[in-house]
Amino acid sequence: MIGFSYCDGVLHADQVAVPAIAASVGTPFYCYSATALRQNYQAFALAFATAFKTNDRGATAPVGICYALKANSNLAVVKTLGMQGAGADVVSGGEMQRALAAGIPAGRIVFSGVGKTRDEIAAALSAGIHQINVESIPELQAVNAVAVAQGVTAPIALRVNPDVDAQTHHKIATGKKENKFGIDIDLAAAIYAEAATLPGIDPVGVAVHIGSQLTSLQPFQTAFERVAALVRTLRANGIAIARLDLGGGLGICYRDEEPPSVDAYATMVAAVTGELGCQVTIEPGRALVGNAGVLVAAVIYVKHGLSRRFVIVDAAMNDLIRPALYDAYHRVIPVRQAAEATDTTPADVVGPVCESGDTFAVQRPLPPLESEDLVAFMSAGAYGAVMASTYNTRPLVPEVLVDGTDFAIVRRRPAIAELLAAESLPPWLDHN
Ligand code: LLP
Repeated sequence: MIGFSYCDGVLHADQVAVPAIAASVGTPFYCYSATALRQNYQAFALAFATAFKTNDRGATAPVGICYALKANSNLAVVKTLGMQGAGADVVSGGEMQRALAAGIPAGRIVFSGVGKTRDEIAAALSAGIHQINVESIPELQAVNAVAVAQGVTAPIALRVNPDVDAQTHHKIATGKKENKFGIDIDLAAAIYAEAATLPGIDPVGVAVHIGSQLTSLQPFQTAFERVAALVRTLRANGIAIARLDLGGGLGICYRDEEPPSVDAYATMVAAVTGELGCQVTIEPGRALVGNAGVLVAAVIYVKHGLSRRFVIVDAAMNDLIRPALYDAYHRVIPVRQAAEATDTTPADVVGPVCESGDTFAVQRPLPPLESEDLVAFMSAGAYGAVMASTYNTRPLVPEVLVDGTDFAIVRRRPAIAELLAAESLPPWLDHN
């Protein structure tokens, strides 16, 4: 993983020793590498600039890379990517406020999501964002009504559902017609025709997103070919589609997956869509931040059962829910590398939460570990901190951004008292 490597047997984030951060911040904590964030972004920027430049079939407008904030919406992470030129893909009014607060211009923000409220639509239109991706007829009508009330025209794309199997975990596949997302591609032409008659709507684009953690180009390509065919139909029908939003979804390596390279992805996008001459937006999340972050935890106890070695750490499913929710694999490594000759034996790495699902790793070969040893859960930069909860009244863990030899806390650990302070007793319980 760029940004994380052993130096003299100690795991470093950029040039900072992870134990030094742990000593300063306490465990558990998330740790992100600014170097990795920038490199990941630049890989996309370069790949798309190259693919679309060398493509002789027409597209000239720069490809917009709208980082999907849902993967990791920490302001410092968003700002680091924004300073590289990233726009933002947001799915709530809250995420829009974050993107703006991190300095992403409204003109580089796309609003996706299957259920935007009227308040969220109004806020997006007031901010003057680049585009709203609409996912249903009632939502189209809501955007129209809000736009008319504001005296503006909303630039929209209809998110279509191309009925393509993304070949990923079923909970993060979104492109089959039985999924709740988008408008069936076969209904789209009629709905665009309706959209074109609405005074508050400017149907400028087509959007698609078929799922996350895709490790093959084929489903993307099938979906994009269907979208390209739709664009041709729409243009023939007199609707001037000028933009394509191709969503996110490019997978990363957690274990031994071999996802397509960013270059191969960009080349395919240019080959399938280049001749349309559209302004293309992509919405990568995981591929930008997933391997730019780790979750660091300390061992509390090691318990030797009759059939198992349990390594009980101070992070839990509330801090990183991906293993519990998707049976996701995260590499677990000791922060201090074991001596070369050390044997590994299988261990279950578990958290302190009172559920068997609070298990990070089953029968993983690990060197001997003791109380207070540090371990790192790798590839935790995407869908880690953002999906955390305070289950078991465990405060959200801090987030740390490292840049070269510097590190800073970019979200602090709240005190338990702060959690309790948000709650109040009803008058009938508040006597003494
Ligand atoms: N655009 C849209 C409309 C999306 O729904 C998503 C992700 C993305 C872009 C970014 O996708 P990415 O490039 O990150 O694959 N919590 C799950 C992943 C959920 C993805 C939801 N949508 C996980 O931990 O695997």
